[in-house]
Amino acid sequence: MTGPSAIVLAAGQGTRMRSRVPKVLHPLAGRTMIDHVLAGLAAAGADAVVVVTGHEAETVEAALDSRARTVRQDPQLGTADAVRTALPEIPTHATQVLVTMADVPLLPADVFTSLAAEQREANAAIVLLSAEVDDPTGYGRIVRGPDGGCRAIVEEADADETTRAVREVNAGTYCFDAGWLRANVENVPRSPSGEHYLTNLVAMAIDGNHAVRVVTAAQPALAMGINDRVQLAAAEHVLRARIAEAHMRGGVTIVDPDSTFIDAGVTIGQDARIEPWTTLSGETSIGDEAVIGPGSRIRDSRIGARAHVWGSWVEESEVGDGARVGPMSHLRPGSVVGASSEIGNYAEVKKSRLGARVRQHHFSYLGDAEVGDDVNIGAGTVTANFDGTNKHQTVIGDGAFIGVDTMLRAPVTVGPGAKTGAGSVVTRDVPAGKTVVGIPARPIELRRNRRDDELAEDEPPDA
Ligand code: UD1
Ligand code: MG
Repeated sequence: MTGPSAIVLAAGQGTRMRSRVPKVLHPLAGRTMIDHVLAGLAAAGADAVVVVTGHEAETVEAALDSRARTVRQDPQLGTADAVRTALPEIPTHATQVLVTMADVPLLPADVFTSLAAEQREANAAIVLLSAEVDDPTGYGRIVRGPDGGCRAIVEEADADETTRAVREVNAGTYCFDAGWLRANVENVPRSPSGEHYLTNLVAMAIDGNHAVRVVTAAQPALAMGINDRVQLAAAEHVLRARIAEAHMRGGVTIVDPDSTFIDAGVTIGQDARIEPWTTLSGETSIGDEAVIGPGSRIRDSRIGARAHVWGSWVEESEVGDGARVGPMSHLRPGSVVGASSEIGNYAEVKKSRLGARVRQHHFSYLGDAEVGDDVNIGAGTVTANFDGTNKHQTVIGDGAFIGVDTMLRAPVTVGPGAKTGAGSVVTRDVPAGKTVVGIPARPIELRRNRRDDELAEDEPPDA
């Protein structure tokens, strides 16, 4: 049996956000609002999903990047009009149609499946999701009859004082009998505001003696709709707590969930420990038993097992198993730090590949570098990788020892086992095993000879 079809309404202007960005593209825990909705529907096994776009349609469609079918609603004449526009795109074999709002992003998949199950069981024209909230302002209110059944949804603008006091609200998510919806959505009258409200279908079903059922949300906070930035922040808070809880139940220690920010796309291995004031964002993975933080920020990166990243930033990079980064270090995009390497204090690495057991312990910069295994990078080492126009590579072989305050003028290669003296400026390739010193750096034996000569010249004749 295929799952229900689904329509996601995303055509409205979202005026209350006061934003140049379409409302449904605002991010929540690293994903757009509408992506959370699509993820929930996918997890519920929704068959065909159609997104209704309208306001800033091109932008929304580009962001969806063909992850869902879209139809345009133009002009936007209300939520019933939006559903009417989408229905021709719903497969004719569909018997159930879920309708949900792109600005209600936190609903878990089981809400959709329970609405669909209830619709099937009760053979209802409409099953809708309600939520008991402390502050019902802005929502449609659920009006129940003497038998306790739902009689109507009354929008805030049309509600009298008694109805406004009702704290059971319409969450904006429904499962319809497909045939009944097709037959009736065309007939929703215009409200005084000029819009065709989807919520009017409830009274229409009751009047036609069709069953309407209500499923009450077990966690009302997850049914919240987002119409302004205050609600956006509230939703972020709820989502963040939910994400942290899932990781903790999965075997991750989060010392202080309130000061830890983990995006929806992050995976964390067992017995990892996330210290306070840490942000894990984008598509990041953290290995088993890794320790992250306090005060780290990791985006779109892979951190190996037992690695420790403290007080540092890692972006679009990889940190190997057992490696240590920080405090106060920055791995910029395209960096790979090998297993058991140690980076920082105050080290910056950009678009560079470091092998295993590299020690870059103190303030220094490696950019566009290929560094082998067991290399020592002395304090203050800098790759001069930019000549004002182009970037150039630095290659450092296995076991090389780069002395403190070495400047490596790229392109340049330091061979395996080679050494550079403190303060040297390396402008030519250094052969394997050689030691170079000075400015510009030259093999130490040449320098020694010259120094002997110079000393001989300088010496007073009678010394
Ligand atoms: C709507 C419901 C309200 C419910 C609340 C839940 C209606 C009339 N009201 O109110 O009962 O409590 O959601 O959050 O349905 N949209 C379109 N085309 C349009 C108008 C809106 O696609 O012509 C989309 C919007 O982009 C949005 C969604 O429908 O994603 C809901 O619209 P919105 O204006 O936010 O309705 P609410 O006032 O929140
Ligand atoms: Mg809304």
